[in-house]
Amino acid sequence: MATLLYIQSSIFNENGQSSQLAATFIDTLKAKQPELTVVIRDVVADNLPHIDASIAGAFFTPEADRNNEQQSIVERSDALISEIKAADYIVIGLPMYNFGIPSQLKAYFDQIARAGITFKYTDTGAVGLIDDKPVYLLTARGGIHKDSGDYEVPYVKEYLGFLGLTSVETIYAEGLNMGDDVANKARGEATKEIKSAVASL
Ligand SMILES: Cc1cc2nc3c(=O)[nH]c(=O)nc-3n(C[C@H](O)[C@H](O)[C@H](O)COP(=O)(O)O)c2cc1C
Repeated sequence: MATLLYIQSSIFNENGQSSQLAATFIDTLKAKQPELTVVIRDVVADNLPHIDASIAGAFFTPEADRNNEQQSIVERSDALISEIKAADYIVIGLPMYNFGIPSQLKAYFDQIARAGITFKYTDTGAVGLIDDKPVYLLTARGGIHKDSGDYEVPYVKEYLGFLGLTSVETIYAEGLNMGDDVANKARGEATKEIKSAVASL
């Protein structure tokens, strides 16, 4: 039985455009794989803290030397890492806010990048320690960025690749604030791409 991890990061929760694309993805895959288990990681609801010296310090402290506060910081991170490692598919609802990812998603990314656990450095460079699996980025943008000055998707792909996740497919819904015609067309095309992506699973 397969597990899909859905990482929701819209500040508009399930009403977000990226969340609605994710719902289409999940419903379509569920129809094909009724046994599918869906795990929702709502990084906005989680309200994870910004990474700071105490969090980074806890990550770098060997288990035997951690105090109670450091131990609970590491346990929260460990749980998030176990969740993503256990998934067979990952869907990330990816809004663009001020040219980048939601800060809540960045806080999540900062929780799951752990030396020796999700990546390591070797003589020949960095090696990701999460087994590769299909990852779908479902992007939603008010404007159009894809072919000029898109720093968001390249950043997310670079980050995921660092952890070992290199099989990443991106589906774009752009121009959502550019009038109904543009928005409806973008949503329609993204929906078609989602259905075709799911058909290949
Ligand atoms: C705070 C904020 C910042 C935004 N910044 C951008 C931006 O830089 N570029 C863009 O194309 N759209 C921008 N938008 C529009 C969003 O990308 C658009 O509303 C999209 O649907 C957000 O995804 P969501 O509905 O899943 O939250 C912004 C929206 C908000 C609320």
